[in-house]
Amino acid sequence: MNWIRITRSDNIPLREGRSVRIGSRQIAVFNLGQRFLAVENRCPHGGGPLADGILSGCDVVCPLHAWKVCLETGQVRRPSVEACVATFPVRVEDGVVQVQLPSPAEAAA
Ligand code: FES
Repeated sequence: MNWIRITRSDNIPLREGRSVRIGSRQIAVFNLGQRFLAVENRCPHGGGPLADGILSGCDVVCPLHAWKVCLETGQVRRPSVEACVATFPVRVEDGVVQVQLPSPAEAAA
């Protein structure tokens, strides 16, 4: 397990996302109120910044061409295509949002 401290939870407004760079990864972390979710910050359509998208339930709508991506599974919900983004476990400890990456090597990649 490799939990990376991201920011204080109150730095991510309710129903908004923020991007964070970890190694070579850009990760989008969203505040859904009861929980936080994190996905790769790169839309599978054309690389749009998902952190800047609008939340719709547990989905985010890409700000570039409105593809809808499920933040729980990473699957694209709209349009009907076989595409997905990576998802990452998130926890909040002592008011700090943390994202888990698969390994230290991936975090530094
Ligand atoms: S880049 Fe996200 S919908 Fe086109």
